[in-house]
Amino acid sequence: MSTAAKVTIHSSQFPENVRRDLLESLRTRRVNHKFHYDSVKQTQKWLALHQIYSPTRNDADCAAIYEKGFAAAAEKIKTKQIHVIGLGCGGGQKDTRLLKLLKRRGREVFYTPCDVSTAMVLVARKTALAIVPEKNCFPFVCDLVTAGDLQKMAGPRCRAASDDRQVVPATTRLITFFGMIPNFEPERILPKLASLIHKNDFLLFSANLAPGKNYVTGVKQILPQYDNDLTRDWLMTFLLDLGVEKKDGELRFAIEDGGFDLKRVAAQFCFSRARQIKVDDECFKFRRGESIRLFFSYRYTPERAQTILAGYGLKVCGQWIAKSGEEGVFLCRL
Ligand SMILES: C[S@@+](CC[C@H](N)C(=O)[O-])C[C@H]1O[C@@H](n2cnc3c(N)ncnc32)[C@H](O)[C@@H]1O
Repeated sequence: MSTAAKVTIHSSQFPENVRRDLLESLRTRRVNHKFHYDSVKQTQKWLALHQIYSPTRNDADCAAIYEKGFAAAAEKIKTKQIHVIGLGCGGGQKDTRLLKLLKRRGREVFYTPCDVSTAMVLVARKTALAIVPEKNCFPFVCDLVTAGDLQKMAGPRCRAASDDRQVVPATTRLITFFGMIPNFEPERILPKLASLIHKNDFLLFSANLAPGKNYVTGVKQILPQYDNDLTRDWLMTFLLDLGVEKKDGELRFAIEDGGFDLKRVAAQFCFSRARQIKVDDECFKFRRGESIRLFFSYRYTPERAQTILAGYGLKVCGQWIAKSGEEGVFLCRL
C-alpha cells in the first residue's frame, strides 16, 4: 500500500460549507449528525462504541443476515466486474465483507468508499485494501444531503471517482447504504438516494429495527443501546470541543415521535446554566433550561421500511431479518 492516498473531496465538505452547516446546527439547536464524525477523535470514539454495541459485531446471527444479503446480490449480478459504492461507508467493515464475498466468487471488484468524514473514508480504504487493489479504490468525501450534483458525479462511470489514470469501468453498480437511514429524516435522504440508483443498479440497505410484535415496546427495549457511557462520551465531544463544559447541563435520552409513523431515540443536552458558544465572530447564547438536540436514531419495522422505500420508487426484492428482530438487510432495485 502506498504511503499517500488520493481522496476526492466534494465541495459540500469544503470548509466554508461545513462552517455554514455548523452555524445552522447551532442556530436551530438541532445538530446535524455529520458533526459527530468530523474529527479523528470522534471517528475513533465511534468506531470503538460500534465495536461494542453494534449487533453486526457481537451477534453472529446479525452478521449472517448481511452475508445472506451479500450472497443474494452476488447471485443476481451476472457481470464479471462489480463496482461497490459505499454511501456513508463508516469504517468500511461491512463493505469489505461484501467485497471479499464478491472476490471469492471470481468477480473483479472496484470500490468507492464515500462518507462525509475524511477520517472514515481513509479507515474504510485501508480496510478494503486487504481485498481490493489500490488502483480499483476511489475514496470520496461528500455530504450526501447537500451535494446537489451527485447524480452527475456518481453516474455510471462515476466521474467523481475516476481521473485520467483511474477509470472505473461502466459495470454493474452495487450501492450500499448500511446503518444510515436511522439518522436522517427519511424525506431528506431518500429522494437523494433514489436519484442515485439507476435501473441496472442494485441497492443493499440496512435499517435498525424495533424488535418484537409491539412497536412501542420494541423501541423502549433498545434504549440502553444508546443511553450508555461510550455513546454519551462520543456525542458530548461535539459540545466539549466548542467550549461547553460537562457541568453546564445534562444529556438526556428519550423516545419521540417522528414522521412516517416512526419513533426514534433522541439525545438532548439540557443546559442547567447559561453558556455562550462562539464560532469565529458568531455567538450563540444558551439560557438555563434551553436544550440542543445532539442526535436521533429512527427505529423501523420491516413493513415500515418497505412502505417508505416504495414511496421513493425503491422496491425490496429480498430481505433478511436478524432473529433478535433488531436489524434488517434489504436488497432493492428501482
Ligand atoms: C452509523 S454510521 C454507519 C457506518 C457504516 N455504513 C456501517 O454500517 O458501519 C453513519 C455514517 O454516515 C456518515 N455520514 C453522516 N452524515 C453524512 C452525510 N450527510 N453524508 C455522507 N455521510 C454521512 C458518518 O460519517 C458515518 O460514517
